[in-house]
Amino acid sequence: MELISLHTKNTTYQMGISKNGFLLHLYYGPKISCDADYLVQYYERGFGSNPYDVGDDRTFSTDILPQEYPSYGNGDFRSPAVNIRNNQGVFGVDLRYQSHRFLEGKYRIPGLPAVYAKESEAQTLEIVLRDQAFDVEVVLRYGVLLELDVITRSAVIQNCGREDLYIGKCFSAALDFVQGDFELLHFYGRHAMERIMERIPVVHGKQCFESRRGMSGHQQNPFFILADRETTEDHGVCYGISLLYSGNFKLEAEKDQVNQTRIQMGLSDEMLDYPLAPGENFYTPEAALACTAEGLADLSHIFHRLIRHHVCRGIYKTARRPVLINNWEATYMQFDGAKLLSIARQAAELGVEMFVLDDGWFGNRDTDDRALGDWYVNEEKLGGTLGELVQQINGMGMKFGIWIEPEMVNEDSDLYRRHPDWAYVIPGRKPARCRNQLVLDFSRKEVVDYVFGQISSLIDSANIEYIKMDMNRSICDVYTAVGGCQNYGKIMYEYVLGVYDFLERLIQKYPKLLIEGCAGGGGRFDAGMLYYTPQIWCSDNTDAIERIQIQHGTSFGYPVSAVGSHVSASPNHQTGRAADIQTRGVVAMAGSFGYELDLSLISDEEKAAVKKQIAFYQRHWNLIQNGEYYRLHSPGKDRDIAAWNFVSEDKEEALLNIISLSTHANAPVSYVKCKGLDPKKKYYCEEDGRVYDGSILSHIGIPVPDVQGEYKAWQYYFHVCATD
Ligand code: GLA
Repeated sequence: MELISLHTKNTTYQMGISKNGFLLHLYYGPKISCDADYLVQYYERGFGSNPYDVGDDRTFSTDILPQEYPSYGNGDFRSPAVNIRNNQGVFGVDLRYQSHRFLEGKYRIPGLPAVYAKESEAQTLEIVLRDQAFDVEVVLRYGVLLELDVITRSAVIQNCGREDLYIGKCFSAALDFVQGDFELLHFYGRHAMERIMERIPVVHGKQCFESRRGMSGHQQNPFFILADRETTEDHGVCYGISLLYSGNFKLEAEKDQVNQTRIQMGLSDEMLDYPLAPGENFYTPEAALACTAEGLADLSHIFHRLIRHHVCRGIYKTARRPVLINNWEATYMQFDGAKLLSIARQAAELGVEMFVLDDGWFGNRDTDDRALGDWYVNEEKLGGTLGELVQQINGMGMKFGIWIEPEMVNEDSDLYRRHPDWAYVIPGRKPARCRNQLVLDFSRKEVVDYVFGQISSLIDSANIEYIKMDMNRSICDVYTAVGGCQNYGKIMYEYVLGVYDFLERLIQKYPKLLIEGCAGGGGRFDAGMLYYTPQIWCSDNTDAIERIQIQHGTSFGYPVSAVGSHVSASPNHQTGRAADIQTRGVVAMAGSFGYELDLSLISDEEKAAVKKQIAFYQRHWNLIQNGEYYRLHSPGKDRDIAAWNFVSEDKEEALLNIISLSTHANAPVSYVKCKGLDPKKKYYCEEDGRVYDGSILSHIGIPVPDVQGEYKAWQYYFHVCATD
């Protein structure tokens, strides 16, 4: 069998071209240097189908063989990655290998986010498959990031014939495993409790995880891990798959009749009926894959590096983000210029570096049932122009940022009154409202053009250095007023392309702008958004204790630099729980750090703590933002402690963070073991003035102080003082 192999530093990905041109998936896993074609065993299986051209060889069945890009309609009865139909009611394609080639550098995808790398850091493999009858080609593209142990996948569907075709399904990546007893780690949730990790066995039949909300969603994150049953944080084989896409997606895990596993992921096929005219191409979003034999922590580190250095762009991707104060939880929409300035003044005095004006500054937006779409400043409310407000904030030594929600419109808005057909409303039906708002049809260029013009004039009107771009509802009632029925099957995809177009224009026009993504907190927290916004507001839940769990789940697939996290008031507005300022600070510091409360309402003691926190963050931001993040004690039911540590790449410094989650009388002493330290190095701890061996910190750890009360927090900063 002719083989095609991809190698990264520690992994191998191997395919084989069968005698009839089927592209088989042979192996993906820890590095090998041999042929893996022996793994494929040929047996006759009852009710398996045999391609016509294998003649009477009943051991060759597409239903059993591991496929590289399984298609509907060729006798593989497992779930397909691709399904195409024509106008005559023929569904399915029979894809056969045509050719392949290697190219230097990493491919890009028009209009969609994609992992990028220098020409010398990556290679592209393109494999052309063809269905003769439809005259359609599927180009499978692989980006190989050697040093990083990442392989990306994406497909291009090309209509080379003379008939219209319709794409009903086209995933970005599929992986078939001929053996294995796997578990799947997925990250489910809800508004204000996103990305809770759940580990479940892959069972016979098909398990499906998806979003059909038009956004990646709070309920299911488009990042998944497939792990051997025995795999732990520190040992064992596991695979990660992250979709660089912010709309409807699907992951399917399927264990077949002979215990083989198929994992595949890509665009959701719901409402997908993408028309492909002769000569046209369709591009799938990209999936980034990684594999390691060293456990979940190592897998997370690969994705952290990938996102930090090869997905996020712009000047802020590894630079320090300003410590900010956001007025949302301080005032909600009830503020005036004087109130904003008093919040800003107090924050500036304590060392905060940027003021962010949240929702409520535009049109007549005093409640959430109006004004979305009217992106002009309410000068009466602000007591002057935006320029004047920003000047005063700048005068306090702070940068200025502002909240927008460009994809949305309220019926009570000038924009909706002028252009009711720009919102998703099905003629003859009343649309479902969500937070009193409707969604603008961003699949239409004139809509994106208009909103971009509005936002652009806003940014030009004052010294705005940061944008928080929100999106506060799921999408339904999807219908487009233009293009006729030819357009229906592509709206959900083109909506997302419209959002990306908006963001791309923004970053091209304002390259110095820091953009924070947001969708009711972390409802669009995905690698696609991170291509445009290097950080995302992690959750509308700012309760420090609940945040630990949210940030823990988030950390599996995303770096700390991507996580927007703020200290808010106590008792917390979402849960009513009280936690002291130190605890809130330690949790918020595991992210892009800021405050979201009226700092003039806290005690002098707390103000002093805030000053210290800011100074501490300014000193250690690089270790936190760009260091390696290790999960130590996972939060969850019946856990007494949550802990994590950061270690610099050279292992010269580390920051250990511990939070107590419960309190007990006469409790045994708990110890928290550090991870990632050099066992041969000696570390000086600033908090207790002691010197520790890296090995004792890793094997026994630090005792958690015995204090009364729950939700206490400790930070220990270590730096190397001598080496054996
Ligand atoms: C969303 C965001 C919040 C805040 C509000 C404003 O819920 O996640 O942080 O900006 O919108 O309406």
